[in-house]
Amino acid sequence: MPTRSKSTRTITKKSQAALAEVIQSAGHSGDAGTMQPAKGKLGVMIVGMGAVATTFVAGVEAIRKGLSAPIGSLTQMGTIRLGKRTDKRSPRIKDFVPLAELNDLVFTGWDIFEDDMYTAASKAGVLDQNLLDKIKPFLSKIKPQKAVFDQNYVKRLDGPNVKKGKNKMDLAEQLREDIRNFKKKSGASRLVTIWCGSTEIFLKPSKVHQTLESFEKGLRDNDKNIAPSMIYAYASLMEGVPFANGAPNLTVDLPVMHYLSKKNNAPICGKDFKTGQTLMKTILAPGFKARLLGVKGWYSTNILGNRDGEVLDDPGSFKTKEESKLSVLEHILQPDLYPELYGDIYHKVTINYYPPRGDNKEGWDNIDIFGWLGYPMQIKVDFLCRDSILAAPIVLDLILFLDLAKRCSELQGLGVQEWLSFYLKSPMTAPGLYPEHDLFIQLMKLKNTLRHLRGEELITHLGLEYYD
Ligand SMILES: NC(=O)c1ccc[n+]([C@@H]2O[C@H](COP(=O)([O-])OP(=O)(O)OC[C@H]3O[C@@H](n4cnc5c(N)ncnc54)[C@H](O)[C@@H]3O)[C@@H](O)[C@H]2O)c1
Repeated sequence: MPTRSKSTRTITKKSQAALAEVIQSAGHSGDAGTMQPAKGKLGVMIVGMGAVATTFVAGVEAIRKGLSAPIGSLTQMGTIRLGKRTDKRSPRIKDFVPLAELNDLVFTGWDIFEDDMYTAASKAGVLDQNLLDKIKPFLSKIKPQKAVFDQNYVKRLDGPNVKKGKNKMDLAEQLREDIRNFKKKSGASRLVTIWCGSTEIFLKPSKVHQTLESFEKGLRDNDKNIAPSMIYAYASLMEGVPFANGAPNLTVDLPVMHYLSKKNNAPICGKDFKTGQTLMKTILAPGFKARLLGVKGWYSTNILGNRDGEVLDDPGSFKTKEESKLSVLEHILQPDLYPELYGDIYHKVTINYYPPRGDNKEGWDNIDIFGWLGYPMQIKVDFLCRDSILAAPIVLDLILFLDLAKRCSELQGLGVQEWLSFYLKSPMTAPGLYPEHDLFIQLMKLKNTLRHLRGEELITHLGLEYYD
């Protein structure tokens, strides 16, 4: 793996100097307006310490130690253009808005297995053992707390490190205590929870999910429509802690969670990290639509050999994933507006568990498109990707941006943070609004939200003024 310690440090120093200039020339004093500064430590609580979680935490530590670079992370490497193209103002995003510093992140988590982060990362086999050994003392200290788990919701898993309680409310109370204890022990001033746990079986919203009253009654009655991920979400939101969901589980897509998120200023966002094949889909499909090329069929299949692949081999968990993956094309291509181009697409997604590949997934796409006069063409995509390498920077960015949202008077009480759709296969929106899946529109929305928060002009790309 490449090591970039020197260049990363140089870039950081340079960008800080550039920022000072930007702030001066922009006429604002660096004061973040309605945003509280990122003072003190940020406690990161991860549910599920598997491949994604360990790749993320090990990565943060490797970057802090100057052993690697934060490639793929918008918060760490991305810039944001301000003003006119001729103004030459493009600070780094992390210098433009007050994000937590990597050095201020502290970690804890829950898992049904007892492995510490070093052991779990070694077993996941994503990162070189050589790199893991360099940060072993740090990783070994992060040990999973006992999980809230029920095999009825993840059929292919079972493990010993599980909480016992008289009902689901009791388990939620135990999680809330874990959260409070971690805050105290770590000295963190703020917290964020992120679900990096396995994909649960497919569930639909039901009566128990409608109000706080019905949900709490359901917790006390052990209602089977309340999955473990919902218990973590409830515990976090009750503690006023933002919650992100990396899996396609229903978890926070529920009226009760929207309510709690708003009530307790604990931002939430969509679900299921947008990596691998779906990332490719949301890059390619907007291109076809932009050029009005028709799509007749999109056949996607994957081979994946990690534990996630094993869990998704169960039809119940796969159904949850499938729903999340299938919705993307429909929203990007808008068949209702373009029936002759996209009204009759055959879209198929499969995942096959194939242990020899481990975390190094292979995703094949066959896309049948048609052009001028209806003449057919084909595109084949073979993406040999590394799932957790693509997911880790998303975890980092979601944590830092959710923490920002929580410190931002304009965003904290909104509940859903639609501007974070960029990272997720299933973006979350206000009820009745269709989600925006086009990666490029999502990026524009994210950057314009940041510009708006700092009182900068939004960028529309109109540009007529250059020709006056
Ligand atoms: N890697 C990607 O590109 C990607 C993309 C989108 C979504 N995801 C989702 O992210 C999640 C994590 O992926 P992964 O590759 O790290 O999987 P993984 O199997 O390596 O890790 C999941 C971990 O969660 C633990 N777990 C399961 N239920 C739990 C519970 N109730 N409480 C605490 N721990 C629990 C498991 O024991 C396991 O260690 C999966 O749901 C996956 O579908 C991953």
